[in-house]
Amino acid sequence: MNAFDFRGKTVLVTGGSTGIGNASARGFLAAGARVIVTGTRASAADYAGSDGDLAGLEYHRLDQGDAAAVAAFDPGVDRLDVLVVAGAKVAYRRAEFEIETFADVLATNLTGPMQLATKFRARLQGGSIIFIGSVASFRGTIGQPAYSASKGGLLTLTKTLAQAFGGEGIRVNLIAPGLVRSKMTAVTWTVPERLAATEAQVPLRRIGEPDDIAGAVLFLASPLAGYITGTSLIIDGGLSA
Ligand SMILES: NC(=O)c1ccc[n+]([C@@H]2O[C@H](COP(=O)([O-])OP(=O)(O)OC[C@H]3O[C@@H](n4cnc5c(N)ncnc54)[C@H](OP(=O)(O)O)[C@@H]3O)[C@@H](O)[C@H]2O)c1
Repeated sequence: MNAFDFRGKTVLVTGGSTGIGNASARGFLAAGARVIVTGTRASAADYAGSDGDLAGLEYHRLDQGDAAAVAAFDPGVDRLDVLVVAGAKVAYRRAEFEIETFADVLATNLTGPMQLATKFRARLQGGSIIFIGSVASFRGTIGQPAYSASKGGLLTLTKTLAQAFGGEGIRVNLIAPGLVRSKMTAVTWTVPERLAATEAQVPLRRIGEPDDIAGAVLFLASPLAGYITGTSLIIDGGLSA
């Protein structure tokens, strides 16, 4: 048996337009799945020139922080085998200390994932949910109180939903990436001195690529991870070791 054969499976990846979500979506597509992705732009064509490759993926626009939009979201599936929640936002320049921004980031990064998990619960029986957390799920990030709180919340949400959904055969896990090259983190890796300083601290001496995370997403969704639920996997090149 090839555990990474996803033919006949249906996968939804929120935040699958670019970066880690897109790499994960492409991994599932290559493994034979039907893959639906969401992003914030009006159409797939709006990602031309971005790091996202939407060829072969079904695209829907979704603002995960808009409860009415999540409630109305219809990806056109009766059944889902895998739900990957990679959609998230961060606000820089101390904006997350403003309470409106704090609430907005929490809505997108924590309430939205909860709403998606409950919305698709009935269609996910026997399937798997993978939340993309962060190393910020485990520690503070001095300039991003909302991002860190949301990712920390996602960690205990993972454990709670694993308990609550386990009887339906739904596994719920979290992946906690370190610094990965994407448009969200361009503020760090596009500045050579910052990139070099970060790489010097990483035991593997490089920042992560979206594909470094996608492999673990496929593993957690596969039968090889059939007894893994309620857990988290840090993927940071050893930085937090
Ligand atoms: N890169 C890192 O170092 C790192 C580290 C730890 C955790 N993460 C997590 O990894 C996940 C993917 O991020 P990434 O690094 O791959 O960055 P990215 O390329 O910017 O991807 C973020 C994704 O979230 C979508 N998104 C933004 N706002 C949204 C909203 N309000 N509702 C729904 N979706 C929204 C984006 O859509 P558009 O493409 O339309 O903007 C995009 O698809 C996030 O959960 C992030 O927190 C990243």
